[in-house]
Amino acid sequence: MGYFITFEGGEGTGKTTIITYLSKYLEGKGYGVISTREPGGIDIAEQIRNIILDVKNTKMDYRTEALLYAASRTQHLAEKVIPALNENKIVLCDRYLDSSLVYQGIARNLGIENVLKINMFATKYMPDITFFIDVKPEICFKRIKDNNRAMDRLDLENMDFHNMVYEGYKTIAKMYPERIVSINGDRTIEEIINDIKQRIDKLLGE
Ligand code: TYD
Repeated sequence: MGYFITFEGGEGTGKTTIITYLSKYLEGKGYGVISTREPGGIDIAEQIRNIILDVKNTKMDYRTEALLYAASRTQHLAEKVIPALNENKIVLCDRYLDSSLVYQGIARNLGIENVLKINMFATKYMPDITFFIDVKPEICFKRIKDNNRAMDRLDLENMDFHNMVYEGYKTIAKMYPERIVSINGDRTIEEIINDIKQRIDKLLGE
């Protein structure tokens, strides 16, 4: 069995850059690594995701949104994550079920318990460790604007929504202290990576 490592945080927290660095680091140590994100290039999951993020779908009920995320997650897990774990690989995944607990459970106000329930049906695996990249929303937004990144339907939510997401992650981190590690993401990439490397080396028994 491999290791399932997930990364969480709001938009513009630097998850993608962090995962790229870590993947190289772990490969350099001789581990088999895959980096992925939902929907992860899985055709069925991709199609589901397009419905969720389409800016035209303003009528989408929040419960529909939660169920679609869970459905996309199941497919990505079944086709990509579980096979890789069975091949003893390390799976680095940008967002997983904590995103649903925070965005749908807390920010959309569906309730953490409800969202957890549907996700417990949808998924078979909890991550071995989850890194919450802690960066305040104002800083994230400045980064997104500076990078001219395109905005999707959820990015277009107002600042209150993003503040709720941020506070939501803090709540979830407290709920799962043995799994979720908070990392101060408002530092240089080297400092951030160093902290994460240490935690991963410990997990791998190095
Ligand atoms: P994503 O494309 O991964 O963007 P980012 O670069 O911000 O990580 O995610 C798109 C949006 O979907 C993002 O606003 C977070 C949201 N999301 C949920 O609301 N629930 C979920 O379960 C997941 C995985 C993402």
